[in-house]
Amino acid sequence: MPSASPPAIHAESLVKTYGDHRALDDFTLTVPAGTIHGLLGPNGAGKTTAVGVLTTLTTLDSGTARIAGTDVRDGNALRSRIGLVGQYAALDEVIGGRQNLVMFARLLGLRRQDARRRADELLEQFSLTEAADRAVSGYSGGMRRRLDIAVSLIREPDVLFLDEPTTGLDPRGRVDVWDAVLQTARAGTTVLLTTQYLEEADRLADRISIMKDGRVIAEGTPDELKRSRGGDRVDVTFPSTTTKAEVEAAAEWQSLTESPDGIHASVPAPRGTADMVDLIRQLDEANLSPTDVALRRPTLDEVFLSVTETPTDPSTPTIPNPEENR
Ligand SMILES: Nc1ncnc2c1ncn2[C@@H]1O[C@H](COP(=O)(O)OP(=O)(O)OP(=O)(O)O)[C@@H](O)[C@H]1O
Ligand SMILES: [Mg+2]
Repeated sequence: MPSASPPAIHAESLVKTYGDHRALDDFTLTVPAGTIHGLLGPNGAGKTTAVGVLTTLTTLDSGTARIAGTDVRDGNALRSRIGLVGQYAALDEVIGGRQNLVMFARLLGLRRQDARRRADELLEQFSLTEAADRAVSGYSGGMRRRLDIAVSLIREPDVLFLDEPTTGLDPRGRVDVWDAVLQTARAGTTVLLTTQYLEEADRLADRISIMKDGRVIAEGTPDELKRSRGGDRVDVTFPSTTTKAEVEAAAEWQSLTESPDGIHASVPAPRGTADMVDLIRQLDEANLSPTDVALRRPTLDEVFLSVTETPTDPSTPTIPNPEENR
């Protein structure tokens, strides 16, 4: 019964201090079961600390956190229900992927036959069957990371935590890990991943929390976050043969800048392509021929930069309201 089941992750007002530094400062997060949640933030924002607390590795000063209804302070009950892939793997380099999986499964208490069956399932799931019996030392970065993820899924956890799963991987390895994450979520495991790559969060996450100074300063779906920064607009470029006066007279521009390669102007486009078509008609009537016309939505990079560069005031968290700018 989905309505009765608790959220996969529910954290409220978490505080964690190191000396007089608040690594988590009123950190609050809710992640519904079966979703992928992205935790974004600049270096030192507190992402790893948050993952540490939620995976019982780091103790809390105050606040409450529950994973699928179980308190993180109840570490023993929780550990078998969560998986964690940190920055450094504990894989045995000399043996193959299959043997690694069987070894970890045995350490976790699975019987030999069950361990082998689970290893085969996971190898298949993460497209590692072909490489299963080759030494891990010859694996690419992406293959190792997929094997890490497979190891963390041996016990079929409710929630998988991935701390910067693609840092240091080449583009191919990154795409392979993305597939593995989507595959994990499709199989029913909730995923929380921290990342510095906005494209990664945009591609994978159902919802995103942006962290700064130990707290969440913006939260929403990737689309909501983008809309919160002013919504769609049409960007137009005119050749340098067109004068600024001609451009100014042709439409109600929101911004207009001149550069050596021409004039760049934009208008808000709340109606998307309809606004673009209207603008093109207006320009045509004014006898202007732009070199480029594009409908643009703010990128997550723009959202990230604008929310993380605003100074945080502890009394009023600046959570953008996606409804506000529609
Ligand atoms: N064990 C520790 N002892 C002292 N300070 C710590 C400890 N762990 C984290 N911190 C501090 O807490 C803050 C948050 O660190 P954390 O590692 O959680 O950030 P992060 O968002 O994961 O950063 P990064 O993107 O660099 O991984 C930082 O200022 C860090 O220096
Ligand atoms: Mg970190």
